[in-house]
Amino acid sequence: MEKVLVLDFGGQYNQLIARRVRDHHVFAEILPYTVPIETIRENGYKGIIFTGGPNSVFDPASPHYDPAILDLGVPVLGICYGCQLTAWMAGGTVETAEQSEYGKIDFSVQKSDSPLFFGVPEKSVVWMSHTDRIKTLPAGFEISGKTEACPVAAMENRAKKLFAVQFHPEVTHSEFGNQMLKNFLYRVCECRGDWQMDSFIEDTVARLKEKIGDKKVILGLSGGVDSSVAAGLLSRAVGKQLTCVFVDQGLMRKNEGDFVEKTFTSLFDMNFVRVNCREHFLSALKGVTDPEEKRKIIGTEFYKVFWDEIRKQNEKGFFAQGTIYPDCIESGKGDADKIKTHHNKVEMPKDIEFLGVIEPLCDLFKDEVRRVGERLGIPKELVWRQPFPGPGLGVRIIGEITQEKIEILQNADWVLRDEMAKCGYEQHLSQFFCVLPGVSTVGVMGDHRTYDHLVAIRAVTTDDFMTADWAKIPYDILARVSTRITNEVKHINRVVYDITTKPPATVEWE
Ligand code: XMP
Repeated sequence: MEKVLVLDFGGQYNQLIARRVRDHHVFAEILPYTVPIETIRENGYKGIIFTGGPNSVFDPASPHYDPAILDLGVPVLGICYGCQLTAWMAGGTVETAEQSEYGKIDFSVQKSDSPLFFGVPEKSVVWMSHTDRIKTLPAGFEISGKTEACPVAAMENRAKKLFAVQFHPEVTHSEFGNQMLKNFLYRVCECRGDWQMDSFIEDTVARLKEKIGDKKVILGLSGGVDSSVAAGLLSRAVGKQLTCVFVDQGLMRKNEGDFVEKTFTSLFDMNFVRVNCREHFLSALKGVTDPEEKRKIIGTEFYKVFWDEIRKQNEKGFFAQGTIYPDCIESGKGDADKIKTHHNKVEMPKDIEFLGVIEPLCDLFKDEVRRVGERLGIPKELVWRQPFPGPGLGVRIIGEITQEKIEILQNADWVLRDEMAKCGYEQHLSQFFCVLPGVSTVGVMGDHRTYDHLVAIRAVTTDDFMTADWAKIPYDILARVSTRITNEVKHINRVVYDITTKPPATVEWE
């Protein structure tokens, strides 16, 4: 498989660079700049991209690399900090510019025959974000592009296949950035573009087979997209050597536990263990109202049950997780050294010995994971499932959690999802669900006064869940949802719609 290395100098768009490369059907691997040059040599990359980063190359504490990388004979594309670093390593000089450039800047190509600028007009807009700039060119390099404030906005040493751009071709604001990346991959690195999701699956399955051999693997299956797709890949690789442990704490959506069980037992060759522990969770949560306390209890109890089940399995093997790229690598502020593991980081109990940890999706982004899932034949409901918090409905029931409240919420949420699916509006929403605030209000049903639960609907649109807007669902749809919930769900006499953005609110209520 052709591979391109994205050498990480702590820039904020590094994942995006890898993503763009993969969109051009070339596999991209991100490694921190601390990786030894021998590893790079051995891995046989078709090309190397130096990422941006917030440092100044003339700061001795800034991330540097062995200049011998420029003599490996592997094509290089330096981006932003990576551009300045290329100049610096090759013997040029870098200075702090009199004028910083941020945002959309007019760029003009100076070498129209440059392979990097094939199909790029002489004038276009690029995205800049820099204070330093190249002052003098290194020997053997020529200027291939400039902007008003940056006389060396692009440079190249065509003979050695070394290219560098001060701007960010990976962001969409650079009008022809994607074309430039494609040019680098196909015209400079001479890639064939053999990376497709199918080859990812074949390759990963082969590697998993080799690594696991005749040993066992245990995977914690949550029913979410990532662990489901990891389970699908592992099952294809080692079949019954895989045991998936699904802890059902009773806080999933209506019928979801049964759906997960049915899907995995009917679709895949594996051992599937469902641990039903609703009672256990309800008793651990009895009387608890504080949101943080509830989250903590749900998290702690989950792992207690999970590890106990693994002890029961009593088989030494590998421990697999559905960690995906954004979960596992996060560049520290400007220091690729600080790349850290978070999110899916699980503290392993000392008394359970594993042969190692397997994370088959750790190079992929969410939508790539979904594409793998589809190709593995995992049902759409699972592959396109909207995000669901680890603590489940526990964070959507305000106040004490009881079985009665869980059922009311599950039923209301089911109606909401059913109605949204029927009218097709779900495709416009990033996430939508019901919340049970634990508030009773007065109502009237028939001739009777009622005093029953209020349910809230939360629906948001967002790109990244860091900020979110409340969804402008048409009134007629909201009206149908409200009528159906109050008619079909016992103990609800009022429906309200949450019209708060994030910030100041969060998506979830707790
Ligand atoms: P907030 O409420 O922080 O939610 O605006 C942003 C996104 O994260 C999801 N979320 C969680 N996901 N464990 C998870 O796996 C959690 O504890 C958790 N809390 C919130 C939330 O559903 C939304 O998609």
